[in-house]
Amino acid sequence: MAEEVSAAGKAGNAAQAQVSTAEQTGNAEQVRIAVLVSGGGTNLQALIDAEKSGIIRSGKIVLVISSRADAYALKRAQAAGIRTAVCERKVLGADYEKEMIRLLEEEKIGLIVLAGFLSILSADFTRHYPERILNIHPALIPSFCGKGYYGLKVHEEALKYGVKVTGATVHFVNEVPDGGRIIMQKAVAVKDGDTPEILQRRVMEEAEWVILPASVEKVSAEIVKKGTTTPVPVVQTEGGSHERI
Ligand code: GRF
Repeated sequence: MAEEVSAAGKAGNAAQAQVSTAEQTGNAEQVRIAVLVSGGGTNLQALIDAEKSGIIRSGKIVLVISSRADAYALKRAQAAGIRTAVCERKVLGADYEKEMIRLLEEEKIGLIVLAGFLSILSADFTRHYPERILNIHPALIPSFCGKGYYGLKVHEEALKYGVKVTGATVHFVNEVPDGGRIIMQKAVAVKDGDTPEILQRRVMEEAEWVILPASVEKVSAEIVKKGTTTPVPVVQTEGGSHERI
């Protein structure tokens, strides 16, 4: 996998020079990042590689939470020396999100990245972290997105419709599935003879593994600039909505 994302790694060489400068001047504040996964974790690997190569320099991945105990992504995290946790809805029931919030607060997480995370987060959870949760979607939103559009289904529908261009989108997560503000998009050509699997792979290689690390760095840098690397605690108001204090 390290080889698979080596293109992203090469692009990071220029950024690496800037890291050294920041480190030398002692101005290297970073956002603590949690990545939420459910499967193979190729996007997680792209993030780990991007951190190593210096593409991500304003943030540090310190926690990986999986919604499945058998996700290969957990092995990738362990190999990189990152703390892992498993939060399975079927095991934890209604306390599943509470446990995630406990872990996120314990690790003082400032940015949450959904990288192939297949569990839907409640509005209560997403309101906890306004513009602090990123998601990667394997299509150009607003096409082929929303409820039910995940995994191969997205590419099957793109091929069925006959689009000639698809791609990937990184966006903030709010209570509307795939509905938060767009951060980055990258287009990918659909080619004659594509199967959903072939198209999925091309979208990952050409778009997802490039724009996810780039977006994480962009948002982390903005958070560092604002001086709010850890989220401000949220209080429950009388009307039931959440307010920042
Ligand atoms: C990716 O296609 C991503 O866009 C989607 O789920 C897939 C995850 O793959 N949300 P991986 O677990 O990162 O390999």
